[in-house]
Parts: sequence; C-alpha cells; structure tokens
Amino acid sequence: MNNFQQQILQGIPDILPVQKSYDTEINHAPKRKDILSKDEKKLALQNALRYFDKKNHEVLLTEFKNELDTYGRIYMYRMRPDYEMYARPIDEYPGKSVQTKAIMHMIQNNLNPVVAQHPYELITYGGNGAVFQNWAQYLLTMKYLAEMTDEQTLVMYSGHPLGIFPSHKNAPRVVVTNGMMIPNYSKQDDWEKFNALGVTQYGQMTAGSYMYIGPQGIVHGTTITVLNAGRIIAVNGEDLSGKLFVTSGLGGMSGAQPKAGTIAGCITVCAEVNPKAVHTRHSQGWVDEVIDDLDALVARVNAAKNAKEIVSIAYQGNIVDVWEKFDTENIYVDLGSDQTSLHNPWAGGYYPVDISYEDANTMMANEPLLFKEKVQDSLRRQAKTINNHTSKGTYFFDYGNAFLLEASRAGADVMAENGIDFKYPSYVQDIMGPMCFDFGFGPFRWVCTSANPDDLAKTDAIACEILEKIKKRAPAEIQQQLADNVQWIKGAQQNKLVVGSQARILYADAEGRINIAKAFNNAIKSGEISGPIVLGRDHHDVSGTDSPFRETANIYDGSQFTADMAIHNVIGDSFRGATWVSIHNGGGVGWGEVINGGFGMVLDGTKEAEQRLQAMLFWDVNNGIARRSWARNDEAIFAIKRAMEVEPNLIVTLPNMVNDNLLNNIF
Ligand SMILES: NC(=O)c1ccc[n+]([C@@H]2O[C@H](COP(=O)([O-])OP(=O)(O)OC[C@H]3O[C@@H](n4cnc5c(N)ncnc54)[C@H](O)[C@@H]3O)[C@@H](O)[C@H]2O)c1
Repeated sequence: MNNFQQQILQGIPDILPVQKSYDTEINHAPKRKDILSKDEKKLALQNALRYFDKKNHEVLLTEFKNELDTYGRIYMYRMRPDYEMYARPIDEYPGKSVQTKAIMHMIQNNLNPVVAQHPYELITYGGNGAVFQNWAQYLLTMKYLAEMTDEQTLVMYSGHPLGIFPSHKNAPRVVVTNGMMIPNYSKQDDWEKFNALGVTQYGQMTAGSYMYIGPQGIVHGTTITVLNAGRIIAVNGEDLSGKLFVTSGLGGMSGAQPKAGTIAGCITVCAEVNPKAVHTRHSQGWVDEVIDDLDALVARVNAAKNAKEIVSIAYQGNIVDVWEKFDTENIYVDLGSDQTSLHNPWAGGYYPVDISYEDANTMMANEPLLFKEKVQDSLRRQAKTINNHTSKGTYFFDYGNAFLLEASRAGADVMAENGIDFKYPSYVQDIMGPMCFDFGFGPFRWVCTSANPDDLAKTDAIACEILEKIKKRAPAEIQQQLADNVQWIKGAQQNKLVVGSQARILYADAEGRINIAKAFNNAIKSGEISGPIVLGRDHHDVSGTDSPFRETANIYDGSQFTADMAIHNVIGDSFRGATWVSIHNGGGVGWGEVINGGFGMVLDGTKEAEQRLQAMLFWDVNNGIARRSWARNDEAIFAIKRAMEVEPNLIVTLPNMVNDNLLNNIF
C-alpha cells in the first residue's frame, strides 16, 4: 500500500500533523461575516472539536478560535492532507467497492486546486459552493468510502459524514443533503450563522454533490444560450460574427463565458474585478486578451468590430464601468448579461463599483451594513446603464445569477409594467426552458475514471455516432438541438475543454442519454474503454431543480414557487439505481431561493448497470417533462406524449386547455 492509500485509510490522524503556513498564492475565500455571539462561538468550537480525540483539544481550541476570528469559519487548515489533490485513476484508490472509489475520484476532482475556486476552504465554485465545511469531514468521508462495501450506504449531512448504514447492492452508496433547513431559517444570515456554527453548508449544485467538471460544465450551456440569443436577435438569419456580447465574471462558472462566446462566434467582453481570477482564466486559455484600461478597451472593441474578429477580452475591473463607458462612447452592444455571484451578494459575490477589490473585501467583513448599501447603489447604477443600452437595441438576459432579483430588491428600475415580472427575460424563459428543458434536453455528463484521455476520445466518438443516428429519425421540433450537440461533440477535443478529470458534457434528451449510456456500458464490457464511467448531470436540468427565477422560470401555472419536483426527482433516482443522490437548498440563485438535486451513476460494464441506467435515466428526465407538461408548456406536452408512445407503462396526467374567451367573459 502506498503512502496516499495509507493516508486515506488513516482518516483523521491521531497525532496532529504540523501546522501549515497560510499560502498567499492560493485564491482564498473572503473573510466571512463575524456573526456569532460569544456563546455561539463556544458552540462552534465545541462542534469542531468533536471530530478529535480529547488529548488534542487544547492545541486545536486556540487554533480554531483563531480561524473563527480571522476568517469567520473553522476550516481546520492544519488537517489539509499533504498529498496532491486531483482525480487519480480509479485503481489508485484503496477500497472494497468500485462505486465508492469512483466517488473518491469525483470528490478529489472537486477539490483540485486547478479546478476549485477556493481549494483550501473546500469551496469549488460560486464563492461559497462547498464540498465539505472543514478538512476533518473530508478525511473522515474518504476513510469511510475506502472502508465500506456495496452492502452499505454513507449518509452525508451538509459535508458531515453522519455514518455508514447497512443497506443493499441496489441502494445508493451515498446519500447527500446540503443546506436543508426548516423553511423559516433560510435567509442569507441564517446561512452565515449556521455555517459558522459548523452545522450546515451551501452545496451549490455540483460542488456538494461531487459532480463539478470544471468550467466545461457550463461552457456548453453558455454556448447554447449565446447561440440561441444570437438566433433571437438575427434579422436575416445571420450568425454572430462582428456582434458584441458584454458580461461579467471570470470565476468558477462565469469563466466559461468568453470561451462560449468564441465557440458561438462573437466578440466577448467580460469584466472581472479579481486579478487572480483574470490570471487563471487567461493562463488556461479561456480568455484571449486582458485589458485594464477603459479607453484601450474601447479601441480594441472597435477594431474587433471592424474586422469581424472572433475574440474574447477580459476587462480587469468593474462591470459597471464597462457598461457606462460603452454607453457614453456609443459602443453598440448586441447581447448583454451578467454572471457575478449575486446569489451571494453581501459576502463577496458582487463587488460594488468605485471601491477597490481589496477595500471591498475589508468592508464586507468590517462594515457589512455599509457594504450592503454600496452593493445596492452599484446595482442601481448597473441597471440604469443597461436600460440605456437596451433602449438602443441591446438584448439583455438574466443569466441565472439572481441579477434581476437583487437589482429589484435594491430598488433598481428592472420591473415590468405589471410590477410582478422583470423587464428582461431570464435565459430560461426565452431560451433554455422552451428550447431545451421542456423537450428533455439537459446537461448530461460523464467522467472516465481511468483518467485516460484516450477513453474520453472514444466516448466522444460513441456519443457522436449515437446522436447522429437519433437525428436521422427525430421529429422537426428537436432537429436544431440535436444538430447543435453533434457540432459540439465534434469540436469538443479541439476546443480543449478538459480541466481536471476526463469529463464531457452534452445536452441530450432521455433517448440520447439512455442510448449513449448503454453504449458506454457495452464499451466497458468489451474492454474498448479501460475503466468505469461516472454518469451525472448538472442539477440545472429538466427535472432536478425548482427555482422560480431560473430553471422553472418558464413554468407559468403558479407552481414555480413549489419544490415538489426536485424532491420527487431525487427520491425516484435513489430507488431506481443511482450510485449517489443529493438534494440541496441553494445553488445558483441563493440560499432559500431554490431546491435542487442530482445523481451520480457508475457504469462498470455489467448487466446490472445496464438495468439501472435504463430505469433511472428514463425517470430522471421524464418526471420533469411530466411536470412541465402539466404546467401547459406545449413543448413538454409534445415530449411527454412521445415518451408515452415509447413506454406503455408510462401514464402521465395531461392538462385540458381552457378557452381564453370563456375565462375573459367572466372577468
Ligand atoms: N446560468 C447558469 O447556468 C449558471 C450556472 C452556474 C452558476 N450560475 C450563477 O452565476 C454566478 C457566477 O457563478 P461563478 O461560479 O462564476 O461564481 P464566482 O463567484 O466563481 O465568479 C463570479 C465572479 O464575478 C466577479 N465579480 C463580482 N462582482 C463583480 C463586478 N461588479 N464586476 C466584475 N466582476 C465581478 C468575482 O470577482 C468573481 O470572480 C453565480 O451566481 C452562479 O450561481 C449560473
């Protein structure tokens, strides 16, 4: 057994490792709000120390108190393992179960410093999207995964491994919940408080569910969004060449925007205040050029427009300055959006204009009320200038980061005349909902746990062949979706999308997902692919997420404020064969604003895996289509009727449409 394997099996070491110095080269999470009372701080320390043997309490108490005072949280930095953190080939993990080894592969990918936003604070993306709350939880979880068998299930309680319970082979190996709160305790400050106490965490979507695959995960969705936004504004069916897309954020997910803009064929300007984030995305080749001077930016954009260049430019600075400068300089913006982390507005998700990045970080910790005022001022200014642009013709859409929600709460002029809706559509209302989710197309993904790029290339070829076959006999309604995805998978290798594990994303419907998964399982069985494959998806999908301003924004029967679908989805996945399931409060648009769930499924080339994939993937897509069709969405009614033709055991309640005249006559 090698050193890495020994360390995994050791779990929380009995003899404390030496303390580590604070590495300033790493992108650290901002200091969190000092929200706990003296008694609550005692409770937080008691909570943290319960992971350790009594003999270590005295040393750790001072250390953890210091972490709580300095960073607002207890991360247990000392316990971070010394081995390199990355998704190793599956055979390198110790353990008794292929399934749990695959989960270890996924967890380590989520914490890989190349992939994760704040790796030492166990944050994968979105500023607060945590895999674990502290390093003791990580160590214990990995040990459990290495020890357990396929007759047991590990229960994860917001990062805390509650324990391993007896179950059976067809049960999930891991059941994850993140941030599930009694509904009345789901405000932003509740997260601050209960996370500081060490009893809950914000799992985002794919962070706390071990399904993050780097920015590739969102590049595809963003490419589809930008492409289709381009189709909406096209006057004569022209493409995006020479057109300008302005947005912000080069973080975990938002960093995908420039690459997606390039694949879609436009000029992208993306503002980012954090120089480290700019550097990361630039050095990874996700953005072509960096400019930190507004006049230089204007000149560069004009040149790109004249030459119809396809180029992406990072503006190192605040997005509000870009919108205002382009307004005064009359730079026409064709497409506009925003991807700052407004699901987390008061703790580093959004940086107000006219304050330096460093000063903002100090202010949010030391003067939170003033910081909140500055954020709201800035949002009002940003909305005002965006309104100027849209009056000139810009197509602006909310990109699922709660921009319009927080701007409206700040009193910005973003409401429609009816006072209920926003002035601008969310990308789900105009694009993703009717064109993808209602038909069952969503962000299906897979990871080759052999960590071998050749395996990934083989899966690309298999997936492409299957999609092309499906496209030949698919109805007209879904031809464009299939064509976009065939094009995507053909260009995937060339676009060098892999950061971290050997992963691929593809928008597919139930038929596509099932057929692709089956073909992978066969290829593993025949030895064409050299190791197990993990299937999964973003929670941001057809069925996994109830979120009234995002995934379910195009549900108009009032049920967009209910969360039954996400719960049903995860329950259904768990007894149909998922290897792990997760359900989260918060993700994307914020704590208390969304309930979302997902799954992971390990394919190992066996007959059982084939049975599981068929049963689970069919449900995983169609339960959401059924709900969307009940909400009277035409595309979903079309899709669920097709599904019922294929599967006679599926019987979905369909809505009867009421004649508008009949209704209007009585009001
Ligand atoms: N539409 C989708 O499919 C989708 C998917 C995932 C995430 N999201 C949402 O998008 C948002 C961004 O996600 P992320 O993972 O990139 O978060 P992130 O925190 O990693 O990145 C956001 C970036 O915005 C920068 N920023 C903040 N305020 C700024 C300002 N005023 N001007 C310029 N830059 C500023 C931050 O420095 C940060 O780097 C989140 O709210 C997330 O929930 C949307």
